[in-house]
Amino acid sequence: MVPITPATADAIAEAASKLRDGQIVAVPTETVYGLAGDATNPDAIAAIYAAKGRPSNNPLIVHVDHVDAAMRCVDERQLDQRMREQLEVAKDFWPGPLTTVLPRASDLPNGLTAGSDSVAIRVPDHPVLLEVIRQSERPLAAPSANPSNYVSPTTAEHVAEAELPGLSMILDGGACRHGLESTIIRLGGESPELLRAGAIAAETLCDVFGGLVIEHEVQASDAVQASPGRMSKHYSPTKPLYFAADELPAGISPSRVARLSLAPLTRQQQSAFGWYAAMSETGELSQVAQNLFAMIRRADQSDCDVILIDPCPAIGLGRAIMDRIRRASHRSG
Ligand code: TXA
Ligand code: MG
Repeated sequence: MVPITPATADAIAEAASKLRDGQIVAVPTETVYGLAGDATNPDAIAAIYAAKGRPSNNPLIVHVDHVDAAMRCVDERQLDQRMREQLEVAKDFWPGPLTTVLPRASDLPNGLTAGSDSVAIRVPDHPVLLEVIRQSERPLAAPSANPSNYVSPTTAEHVAEAELPGLSMILDGGACRHGLESTIIRLGGESPELLRAGAIAAETLCDVFGGLVIEHEVQASDAVQASPGRMSKHYSPTKPLYFAADELPAGISPSRVARLSLAPLTRQQQSAFGWYAAMSETGELSQVAQNLFAMIRRADQSDCDVILIDPCPAIGLGRAIMDRIRRASHRSG
């Protein structure tokens, strides 16, 4: 198993040097842990896809440390006036959990963008990752550091558990502050288009951009889409997951149920279930978001047969929380 290395100055320098060598390293971000590799090196890109078992049609996000580096990944000749104006607005969220999709620079490896003519870019807001990017002197491609289709990692321990093949190092920067992935928007048109709900609320973006195109978010099929992260089955635990409002399958007794609630249940409410945890002390959605993936993992590791989780209103952060829970609950066939 790859050891977990606390993100000391020496460890950061070592990670940067491994990345320059084309190796892949797990890094903390403010959203979830990422599996980083040199975005300009096709071999590093291939190693990322292999480590995750990720389908080759699902492009990666590029992480840079400042706006100028972001622009080097973009084909500026392809930017129309609206894209330029929207980019100015988007920049105010950097560093932070907003990913923008823009026309790609032609010298980026094709694998990075899965052959698409656009590239997803963000400036992450985590001191460890920003320092790793600076010292590696490269843009870093980084998907979430989980096996494809499993729950995203929000601690270094989560990354270690997965034993991703080819991973050279896990940099530990503590638990992720947001606990949910970045919000992804495609720039262009009258308003940007929301491709993935995330740590920045759609309402906030709608305000600052004066509009936001929101498509139907949970897609029924796993065909190649504008943002393959929208594939309906994603973020799935091993055990079937149901909403607390759903009917459990016949024959499942509450003692076989791992119950996840938004806020603490009373002792009496808890007592029926085989396993129980609250995702926040108060029901506050930022806390639920921060704990969501870690709690789903714990419920998945319990000795119960199914997970039963509270839904929340799909407003503000609730949109991203419900998006992740719906995908985790998706059962095919
Ligand atoms: O918060 C995050 O965004 C985390 C951390 C590590 O930065 N990263 C992350 O990466 O969530 P990943 O690979 O798990 O999700 C990336 C999403 C995928 O849904 C992918 O389809 C979409 O970004 N994406 C990447 N490039 C794209 C592009 N050119 N056009 C549309 N969607 C794109
Ligand atoms: Mg992911």
